[in-house]
Amino acid sequence: MERSLVLVKPDGVQRSLVGEVITRLERRGLRLAGAKFMQVGKALAEEHYAIHKGKPFYDGLIAYITSAPVMAMVWEGPNAVAAIRQTMGATRPLEAAPGSIRHDYALEVCRNITHASDSPENGEQEVALWFKQDELIAWSRDADKWIFEK
Ligand code: RTP
Ligand code: MG
Repeated sequence: MERSLVLVKPDGVQRSLVGEVITRLERRGLRLAGAKFMQVGKALAEEHYAIHKGKPFYDGLIAYITSAPVMAMVWEGPNAVAAIRQTMGATRPLEAAPGSIRHDYALEVCRNITHASDSPENGEQEVALWFKQDELIAWSRDADKWIFEK
């Protein structure tokens, strides 16, 4: 079982795509473990995007993620990280596979709707950065046995 942080970034929230992102992840079979609607402060933004510090797009990225509320969520399932990134599509919307969220709803790399963790290790790290333990729900879903092989 893997976990991924998923953000519907400010552009996705402003464009009323929170429900669309949730619907696609639910339909895929992933299980929600936590969610909160929040305004991201500079400190959290800088910690989350620390790996990109110094890159040409970094300042714009911090401005973008702190510009308006985001929907922060934790989704889990077998191979959740790869499955979620496939559902999101490639970082650059013009390279995203048809049918993916970024293909279907975005044009520009810095207005690409969502964030998802890029490895199981980063998934755990990002979940810990964004959520307190008591904000996460460990639960089993009645449909799990029809979606998860074990
Ligand atoms: P994310 O972290 O948002 O899920 O996206 P990602 O892994 O597909 O992309 P990443 O390389 O981690 O970049 C984080 C966000 O920065 C903006 N941006 N990236 N790679 C670039 O040239 C670039 N330029 C801008 C995007 O909003 C990207 O999602
Ligand atoms: Mg990334």
